[in-house]
Amino acid sequence: MNAAGPLILGRGLRLARAGKVVVEAFDLELHAGERLFVLGASGTGKTTLLHSLLGFVPLAGGELQLLGRTCRSEQDFAPLRGPLGLLFQDAGDQLFGPTVAEDAAFGPLNRGASAAEAREIALQTLARIGIAHLAERPVHALSGGEQRLAALAGVLAMSPQVLLLDEPTTGLDEAASERLLGVLADSGLSMIVASHDPACVGALATRRITLAPAPR
Ligand SMILES: Nc1ncnc2c1ncn2[C@@H]1O[C@H](COP(=O)(O)OP(=O)(O)OP(=O)(O)O)[C@@H](O)[C@H]1O
Ligand SMILES: [Mg+2]
Repeated sequence: MNAAGPLILGRGLRLARAGKVVVEAFDLELHAGERLFVLGASGTGKTTLLHSLLGFVPLAGGELQLLGRTCRSEQDFAPLRGPLGLLFQDAGDQLFGPTVAEDAAFGPLNRGASAAEAREIALQTLARIGIAHLAERPVHALSGGEQRLAALAGVLAMSPQVLLLDEPTTGLDEAASERLLGVLADSGLSMIVASHDPACVGALATRRITLAPAPR
């Protein structure tokens, strides 16, 4: 891997949903330390783009390199889920519980931490984003905003190298949103963020790109 190269490099990306091209001839680069915002109207493909970076939406064309490795098949993408941490637009797609602490411990456990170590990492991560009080709550008994923060804890507990955040502040009140933006800024992590929230863009963006609507 070329340590000085981009963390993410996409060239001529073409992405389709249900047979319809959504993103065409799209170039993408993320360099270390960048917080790149992907803007664009609803339906322009922001979520589709983020999901393609983990192999959830297959490339219909173009070339993709993640952390210096060319990625085409499931075998290429699978080991990068963790180093690239995705916060889903709908937190309900991400949380599987049973409790908030157990959910956040799942990633570290899966990567070989002991049960005690994984729980410690989970609790530290919850405290870091200000939701230590939710640790023993069932994930299905959370508000939308609480779910989003719990889902972010699960992503951060994996110690990712790159964050992919899909509308991270949606559903959060102002205080929770500010806390979240502080955590993300302080993390020092490189990230790609899809967001419609001007406060989020203003607080974090080091660079912006806008997806254009696909030609009809
Ligand atoms: N699972 C799916 N099956 C079929 N089409 C889909 C699916 N998900 C998204 N699409 C379509 O793909 C296009 C891009 O959707 P996407 O969710 O990527 O947009 P977005 O920019 O994230 O929108 P938003 O700002 O509303 O979150 C839309 O036309 C959408 O209807
Ligand atoms: Mg979206």
